[in-house]
Amino acid sequence: MDRILRNAVIGASVALVAGSFATIALAGDANHGAQVFRGQCAVCHSSTASAGPTVGPKLFGVVGRHAGTQPGYAYSNAMKKSGLVWTPAELKLYLTNPAGTVHGNKMPYPGLHNPAQLEDLVTYLGSLK
Ligand code: HEC
Repeated sequence: MDRILRNAVIGASVALVAGSFATIALAGDANHGAQVFRGQCAVCHSSTASAGPTVGPKLFGVVGRHAGTQPGYAYSNAMKKSGLVWTPAELKLYLTNPAGTVHGNKMPYPGLHNPAQLEDLVTYLGSLK
């Protein structure tokens, strides 16, 4: 192989690898997730440490929390007894299909079915701490 061509090929592969790392780093975009939150969740959920519950429990610190345990909020029995811990994976399942994931829970939200928005939203929820 001609030396210049070989260097070009190596250069291109390095760029490709660097490109896929950039994609991984950007997989969850918290700023975009905050926009999704404002559009779809903020009407019922607060997200700051000092805010109280509104229509739904406050979501500050939700990642890693046991479901149905935020003090001062009247959860459904279904949520209190779900036994879930809000890991990113559980949040994605629940937010895709709230009624189907926690039967009898009272969150009146039909589900978010855009995987990229869901990823960004859960990244944003993870930043609320
Ligand atoms: C129309 C109001 C409403 C909207 C919109 C809504 N929620 Fe909820 N959410 C609730 C209610 C009410 C509950 C309490 C459910 C229960 O106790 O059964 C809840 C519960 C939750 C919980 C469980 C929290 C805990 O402490 O266990 C999470 C997580 C959650 N919502 C996230 C979201 C996210 C993220 C969005 C936006 C994609 C959203 N919700 C949109 C009303 C809403």
